[in-house]
Amino acid sequence: MSAPPKTILTASPEEEAAIRAAVRDPDLSGLGEGSAVATAAHVPGLVVLLSDPAVSGPVYDLPRPINAETVLAWVEDTARLQQAGEAVLTVSLDEAGEVAGYSRFTLWPERSSAEIAGARRADRQNAGSGKTGAARSFGWMFEALGVRLIGVTAARDNPRSARVIEAAGFTPMGERESVRPDGTIRESLYWEMTREAFRARFGGA
Ligand SMILES: CC(C)(COP(=O)(O)OP(=O)(O)OC[C@H]1O[C@@H](n2cnc3c(N)ncnc32)[C@H](O)[C@@H]1OP(=O)(O)O)[C@@H](O)C(=O)NCCC(=O)NCCS
Repeated sequence: MSAPPKTILTASPEEEAAIRAAVRDPDLSGLGEGSAVATAAHVPGLVVLLSDPAVSGPVYDLPRPINAETVLAWVEDTARLQQAGEAVLTVSLDEAGEVAGYSRFTLWPERSSAEIAGARRADRQNAGSGKTGAARSFGWMFEALGVRLIGVTAARDNPRSARVIEAAGFTPMGERESVRPDGTIRESLYWEMTREAFRARFGGA
């Protein structure tokens, strides 16, 4: 399951409340065209997307097996967490309205911290757009959701993910054990980045 960053920040009550409010009613304009909060209507598209091992294989915290029932439960669980200000599940829709990717943001508002996991459809991988898309998502977490720290993990055998993370300026911070929903462990590489460092690299408020 998602795990908060190794570094522990403490949010003020005002900061925590602002993050929870931003998560409950997110402004998706910074995430790019075709982004939407996932609903039950996206479940068939998500099942098709995630049934491809090239998409879901490297992601440790997806429900398994992937089917309409498990994916609906995941969408509904995340919607409940969103109401608490602690998670958002978004889909990216292509020109035909099909689900071409997803991102799941997990928040620890009391720590001003967040994590992201996601994947794009196989026909959109390896085209050089992963770095741009990921940097946009990191920026959105810092600026639209308002966190000060992001922690991310990748499997040791996922060099594309590592490349995308390091290209955005994350600092490698060793390894950690990620826990899959079934309780098994995935050994992960681990990185963190602060909002300050992100703004110094990409500009921003
Ligand atoms: C991870 C993912 C989002 C990256 O997006 P992408 O569009 O495929 O990535 P890009 O084409 O922008 O390539 C990313 C970088 O990895 C590099 N790369 C690709 N294959 C590589 C390999 N085998 N070894 C090392 N680097 C590699 C690319 O050269 C590129 O770096 P560069 O732009 O500096 O040349 C996408 O591949 C994906 O959805 N994968 C499946 C799910 C997943 O792994 N999610 C992340 C875990 S949460």
